[in-house]
Amino acid sequence: MEKRVYIKTYGCQMNERESEGLAATLRNHGYEITDDEHSAEIILLNTCSVREQAEAKAIGKSNFISRGKNQGKLVGILGCMAQNFGETLYQKSPNTRLVVGPDGLGRIPEYLDRLMGDKNRRITDIEVRPLDRKFTSARDEKKVKASLFVSIMRGCNMRCTYCIVPKTRGSEQYRPMEDIIREIQWLAERGTREVTLLGQIVNNYGTHQIPFIGGKSPFVQLLEKIQAIEGIRRIRFMSPHPKGFKSDLIDAYENLPKLCPHVHLPLQSGSDRILKAMKRPYKREQFSSIVAALGEKIPTISISTDIIVGFPGENEEDFEATCAVFDEIKFDMAFIFKYSPRPGTIAENFGDQISQEIKEARNQILLKKVEYYSRQYNESMVGTVKEILVERRARRGLQQFEGYTPEHRKVIFTATEDLIGQLISVKIEGCTTSTLLGKFIPSQVAGEA
Ligand code: SAH
Ligand code: SF4
Ligand code: F3S
Repeated sequence: MEKRVYIKTYGCQMNERESEGLAATLRNHGYEITDDEHSAEIILLNTCSVREQAEAKAIGKSNFISRGKNQGKLVGILGCMAQNFGETLYQKSPNTRLVVGPDGLGRIPEYLDRLMGDKNRRITDIEVRPLDRKFTSARDEKKVKASLFVSIMRGCNMRCTYCIVPKTRGSEQYRPMEDIIREIQWLAERGTREVTLLGQIVNNYGTHQIPFIGGKSPFVQLLEKIQAIEGIRRIRFMSPHPKGFKSDLIDAYENLPKLCPHVHLPLQSGSDRILKAMKRPYKREQFSSIVAALGEKIPTISISTDIIVGFPGENEEDFEATCAVFDEIKFDMAFIFKYSPRPGTIAENFGDQISQEIKEARNQILLKKVEYYSRQYNESMVGTVKEILVERRARRGLQQFEGYTPEHRKVIFTATEDLIGQLISVKIEGCTTSTLLGKFIPSQVAGEA
């Protein structure tokens, strides 16, 4: 049997990063990674359990790719759904032969070797293990790009009542600082200019393991170390939690020039009553104070967020409180999710009280607000010159490229292939609701490759 593997990723950035690490690990073991699902003999789905829809999609896919003309392909379900359901996945997806949770991903080459030698076999691995340092550092030299994700921790110690992640990812575990720094140095030497640090609550990094130094949390110490890495020009992270967003982190925006003026800070709801029912340990007022303090340091800072609409018990007044925060902060980007009850979470016992129609209507109202503030922001940018990290060719149009401003606004601009990976100046000449449009100004290259 050929060893061609297709990996499909669902869910969050953490999963994207882990799929990338898995691809690198498989290549090192003689497997070929393909983007063409049809030509692959092995199909691995790296799955997500955060909402019912994500699970339904992955199960549908696993059944589709293992039947009819696809019969004989080796199908594996990996990641959060594997951890969540274990062996019961074989009932939902009878042709699947491999079920591996997030802690077992580094062992997949070995499992595939075994499965290919024995067609009647299945392997399930949902053991909870200490962090696999080798796997979390795995990178493929050929896949190094201008902007990349770097995981700094895994798991979550919170118990937000709606959330399945603590079950699928276990307790917080932090990567050693030296591993993270070594990985970023290695990437910087090969052309990476921007890193986005990943974790469920990045500002919890190192809690109770790495001491505070001069009032600075381990996370801020890590940011300072990355600031010092030559070649890295931009630092981003997601997601921080409002709870631990203290003055040392707010000050970092002033002290660390590479820290981009954009914070993705999940609010979930603007109603204190609902926040309490969600077991989110802050009030709307505290969230607003963090945003105000950031705005004082960096007036141009952009704030985006995550919101759940239709949490059990969310009435009109609660929803209006969320709308009010949107109008106060003017989020120009937000991920808005309709509440999805998750078996095994605390909120499961509250039932699914809000109808689909109301969830949908609330979702639409917030989306309209984001669109409005996004367009307003984009229009205010027309005529300015922004520093852009050129990431790739745009999907459409010859000589059209795409990249992001420091505030994480997407820009499509006219440029040339040789500028990919460089920071350049782009004059913003127009916009759509979500995208800025511009052109490269050659006399003002903002940085070397
Ligand atoms: N650790 C991050 C969130 C990770 S999950 C944090 O605490 O900010 C990503 C997002 O999915 C959450 O912010 C939340 O908005 C959404 N989400 C989580 N569980 C959900 C559920 N049961 N239904 C709908 N959305 C959910
Ligand atoms: Fe889930 Fe809450 Fe942990 Fe985020 S902080 S991963 S929402 S339990
Ligand atoms: Fe989904 Fe797991 Fe990420 S549940 S959101 S893939 S941590």
